[in-house]
Amino acid sequence: MGPTKIAEGIYNVGVIDWNIRDFHGYSTWSGTTYNAYLIMDEKITLIDTVKREFVDELLNNISQIVDPKKIDYVISNHTEMDHSGGLPRVMHKIGEGKPVYCSKMGNKNLADHFRQGLNYQPVENGGELKIGKRTLTFLETRMLHWPDSMFTYVNGDKILFSSDAFGQHYAGYENFDDEIDDHDIMHHARKYFANILLLYSPLIVKLVEKVTEMGLQIEMICPDHGIIWRKDPSKIINAYVEWSKQVPKRKAIVIYDTMWRSTETMAKAIADTLALEGVDAKPMHLRRCHKSDIITEVLDTAAIIIGSPTLNNHIFPSIGSFLTYMEGLKPAKKIAAAFGSYGWSGEAVKTINSHFETMGFDIVDPGLRVKYVPDKTGIEACQEFAKKIAHAIPA
Ligand code: FEO
Repeated sequence: MGPTKIAEGIYNVGVIDWNIRDFHGYSTWSGTTYNAYLIMDEKITLIDTVKREFVDELLNNISQIVDPKKIDYVISNHTEMDHSGGLPRVMHKIGEGKPVYCSKMGNKNLADHFRQGLNYQPVENGGELKIGKRTLTFLETRMLHWPDSMFTYVNGDKILFSSDAFGQHYAGYENFDDEIDDHDIMHHARKYFANILLLYSPLIVKLVEKVTEMGLQIEMICPDHGIIWRKDPSKIINAYVEWSKQVPKRKAIVIYDTMWRSTETMAKAIADTLALEGVDAKPMHLRRCHKSDIITEVLDTAAIIIGSPTLNNHIFPSIGSFLTYMEGLKPAKKIAAAFGSYGWSGEAVKTINSHFETMGFDIVDPGLRVKYVPDKTGIEACQEFAKKIAHAIPA
């Protein structure tokens, strides 16, 4: 769509990926963007590139501001391929001997990805680079999102280029947070946090403390995905701190799959009863709700209740896949319980409980199994099960 001026002499030259719907397993139903930023100073500087298949569009955007061959410096804030996949072609275009500034881990990781000798210049945490009237400061932000990740702060303009952090998988013609519905964009930011950064929550709290100690004044946050925060950058920073703390609400999600609707009948009876007990409850069928949308709900949920039929002496495959995904993201401060219909062996509840134990969840009921089809007695058992969970959720 062409470059966007974000401040005097600073442009977003990135691209919009309108139709991506699956970002390595994350459902990007709104598409995404790969933002890259051009700073026109005595040393013309490009911050990050884009996915390899979008390089022509990136170069075309840059060309509308300046001949790409005139770029002096490239900053790589993050090695993952959605931001550095285009780097070799960009360097080929602008001159392979030009410096690529990156973190020390970025130096290693870029070399491991491209196996070619670009002029990587590792920078220190807190290191500075003068590019003319502006000075850039680099901040290591290990594991946000990879070990190589760093932020680049532009003194004077008070702009933080934050790579993945504070991003959203959202594609649109809007560029800034004041051009878009607040509730919508915060939902995208929250989903991004829950699915990309949740397991690094303790590091996020420390990072925000570090940035506060450094006294960095931030007037604009420019992530590598989605819109730019300029209306009130502290809003997204505060949201990250709140999400990192994972303070549970009086909320429960009943995550299930079903073969002949028996486990579904149980799920609905459990959710209905939780709601009657004053819990914000939601049944979510695993083959109808995407796992990345379910994890977004997990973020502030007190109770995770999982139901699976027993299939071939095991849990249903979709349940296994979801549990694997959730275990990797390490949600904290959850109570949990398992349920499910079975025919003759009924191992599913026990297997789910073993996953809950691995995740350190507080199991508040040994689990509820109903043989074949829940009758009146089975439904009453679901209601008692739900009441027990509701009473275990802090008010
Ligand atoms: Fe947007 Fe970790 O890459």
